[in-house]
Amino acid sequence: MPSSVGEGSPVQQPIIFAERAVRRGRTAVVVGAQWGDEGKGKIVDVLSESFEIVARYAGGHNAGHTVIINGKKFVLQLVPCGVLREGCQSVIGNGVVLDPLAFLKEVQSLRDVGVAVDSNLFVSNRAHVILPYHRMMELGSENAPGRVKIGTTSRGIGPAYEDKMGRRGLRVADLLDLPLLKTHIDNACREKNMIAHALFNSDPLDPEKMYEEYAAAAEKLAPFVCDTAVFLNRAIADKKSVIFEGAQGTMLDIDHGTYPFVTSSSATSGGAVIGTGVGPTSMDMVVGITKAYCTRVGGGPFPTEERDDRGEELRVRGNEFGAVTGRPRRTGWMDLPLLRYSNMLNGTTWLVVTKLDVLDHLKEIPVCIGYKVDGQETDSIPPQDSGFAKIECIYQNLPGWATPTEGFTRVEQLPREARQYLAFLEKQSGARIGMISNGPDREQTIFGDEFLATLGRPVPRPAPRKRGPKPRRSDA
Ligand code: GDP
Ligand code: IMO
Ligand code: MG
Repeated sequence: MPSSVGEGSPVQQPIIFAERAVRRGRTAVVVGAQWGDEGKGKIVDVLSESFEIVARYAGGHNAGHTVIINGKKFVLQLVPCGVLREGCQSVIGNGVVLDPLAFLKEVQSLRDVGVAVDSNLFVSNRAHVILPYHRMMELGSENAPGRVKIGTTSRGIGPAYEDKMGRRGLRVADLLDLPLLKTHIDNACREKNMIAHALFNSDPLDPEKMYEEYAAAAEKLAPFVCDTAVFLNRAIADKKSVIFEGAQGTMLDIDHGTYPFVTSSSATSGGAVIGTGVGPTSMDMVVGITKAYCTRVGGGPFPTEERDDRGEELRVRGNEFGAVTGRPRRTGWMDLPLLRYSNMLNGTTWLVVTKLDVLDHLKEIPVCIGYKVDGQETDSIPPQDSGFAKIECIYQNLPGWATPTEGFTRVEQLPREARQYLAFLEKQSGARIGMISNGPDREQTIFGDEFLATLGRPVPRPAPRKRGPKPRRSDA
């Protein structure tokens, strides 16, 4: 008898798609391929040069997307990274859960540093609203004895999505409808206060105070609100280009991630359709962002986690501390079975490999090329935590380059071992690498020629070779 549901499934061999058709990318879904913090913010910012609109489709202010422009750091939580690019419009889609106070705070902090947010930032009237009782419920349940601790960001994300699916949520349009807001808060507080008191002994929340605060926030939010599905579809019909900015990562997806250690939204590329109201036929390409190694923050399985000094070295070199909570991120090596699974789930057309520079010090780089479970080699991703516990990673040590990659802007300038490492990831994961990031700044980015052409950008002539032998024929 199988000890875990799903064992013995026929999917044992890696699924590698033949090259996906490359279309001129007028619309692109940018998705995290791992457990979040892959550098989506930086990559969306870099790509936004070629796009007119950036639309967030999932999550809330649990996200922390870091963008560094000429040494100046911005951490965006709800507002899409396109806001930092002059002339680019930004949309917060219906799939996002919006804390109005967090949104207004972020908008104000952007205004304070001179970033334009008025008339170029739009919020869906159908996005669900996070209210204080969502945080109360989350804190109670995360700390309740006997509950599985997920290690959430404590932003009320899960309970807000629960209310959405339970059909008792408050949407942005309802927030602006003050009589409805009043009734909603009164009823919800009555219910949530009773539940939280009974289950977690929480102190009750005051509905009067809450109404005052959120009615005031509604007034400030109103100018941003519209039907963003109509806005986006009209823009696409007018041949405008759109990035759909993902939050979190594939392995944190509510359906496909390492459940229950996941977030509560559809972080995979499919979420872009539901979370914005733009049909799948309008999505031209999917750009998966992966670090050159792996990290995760919070609880849950992590097969390639490195708990010794080398893990600590990755954390320090990669500055692996949560952009939102400051928590140290767990670190480990590239996990190819997971990356292949992620590429399959997302239908990845292009991969972007970030934080290559963090591996610059290594003479050898371990890469997990497959799993062994009960002595059998497998590529299956288990559906349960208990299945992950049985995984033994099969590692291959690839030669490191042990030299700085800082400052390189062309693939052929990279050390031969770095190019070999990237070519290995490309071959083993079945998705072409379109871009490489070798530092946090906007400028520290290497484009592949074919990817540039897909974006409709001019492809530069080959630069004179600085070091290393002739590269193999590969985009990266
Ligand atoms: P996101 O949530 O996917 O947008 O990623 P985060 O912003 O939470 O975390 C990525 C971190 O890595 C940020 O601190 C970025 O500034 C940084 N970063 C992004 N790309 C690179 C890179 O290529 N090299 C280095 N060293 N840091 C990077
Ligand atoms: P970005 O967009 C990394 C993790 C939390 C926790 C789990 C559930 O910056 O990549 P939640 O508060 O969402 O209910 O927490 O998901 N998590 C993230 N980890 N990056 C993120 O976002 C994350 N958003 C949520 O740490 O393990
Ligand atoms: Mg982040």
